Amino acid sequence: MTDISNIESSTLPRLQPSLPAELYSDPAVYQEELTKIWYQQWIYAGRVDGLSRPGDYRLTTIGNQTIIITLNREGQVRAFYNTCRHRGAELCQAQQGHFKQDRITCPYHRWSYSLEGALLNTPNLEISNDHHHFGLYPVKCQSWGGNIYINLDSSSPLKLGETADPDFTVLDNWPLEQLKLGHTHQFELACNWKIFWENYLECYHCPGIHPDLCKLVPLYKAALATDRIDPGAELADAVASGIESWTTTGKAISLPFEGLSTEQANAGHTFMELYPNQYIVAHSDYVRQVSISPLSAERTRVTTEWLFSAEAMKDPDFDPAPAIDFSKQVLAEDSWVNELNQRGVTALPHQNGYLVPVEADVGLFHEMYSNWMSQ
Ligand code: FES
Ligand SMILES: [Fe+2]
Repeated sequence: MTDISNIESSTLPRLQPSLPAELYSDPAVYQEELTKIWYQQWIYAGRVDGLSRPGDYRLTTIGNQTIIITLNREGQVRAFYNTCRHRGAELCQAQQGHFKQDRITCPYHRWSYSLEGALLNTPNLEISNDHHHFGLYPVKCQSWGGNIYINLDSSSPLKLGETADPDFTVLDNWPLEQLKLGHTHQFELACNWKIFWENYLECYHCPGIHPDLCKLVPLYKAALATDRIDPGAELADAVASGIESWTTTGKAISLPFEGLSTEQANAGHTFMELYPNQYIVAHSDYVRQVSISPLSAERTRVTTEWLFSAEAMKDPDFDPAPAIDFSKQVLAEDSWVNELNQRGVTALPHQNGYLVPVEADVGLFHEMYSNWMSQ
């Protein structure tokens, strides 16, 4: 693959070369990314509260690997490759379900396993003492804030949260673990997964693409994604005066979370990225989590989850539509540019794009990507 560190410097002032164009469509690059990034890093794999009792399971996919996430008898999260140790058949077909009698049974020759992955039964074959060698292939899993994360690299020294920006503590004042999943929205984007992040990391496109969002956040109208990029702009990274939250009305959909600082409540949004597959936006009244999963060099699945307080959801008058609809509108606007970026980036003469100064965070993402790929 192209040596990213060797891209020629731009002759145009203050422009930094973006990644080589082939990195957005080459299937061989995609395979390398799966091996060097997606099968190495901690990946978000759904909310803990989506599994309510021992034996409940759901499947999650990273690249071409399918993982079973389940709860053991003690209610602890366990994860295994969806592969039988006999001759490698797929164990589960349904995206979610329940293992009856706490047994994971292969549909092919009916070898069965416990919720800890231990081999329990092999029809027509007496299992010896060393049958424990034939347990399901385990996958490392950990939870944080009510979220489950998995890591396919069993020997990875990476700690969960190591790729978080800024870090987990930025959301300490939100009761993430207690929040309830109120709504999920999933769709496929016809673009490379890096295009999704690049667009997320800059607001150069905001004035033209997100007119309604710019009314809520003056900084975005100035084409700035954060106040770090151009401190001279003197615009706070916060919603406009009179705006309470990211909703179609600008009003909050419920009372603010208890425990937020005045600054956090007034900011209207607090972001945290967990590369390579999730970002979280904590508002004063709800939390939105967006995660991506690459499907091919030119396709990416996007999942958005809206989390609300249990008290708010119990209120018969609670209406989350203004929050959900607003986020969906912004997502749709971003999806449109993500896909048009993908379609254009494969033009034969296009070697690489350029980043303007307000796209500095995209450059930092490219640095991180380059480090991952050079390992
Ligand atoms: S492949 Fe699973 S029991 Fe044979
Ligand atoms: Fe956007």
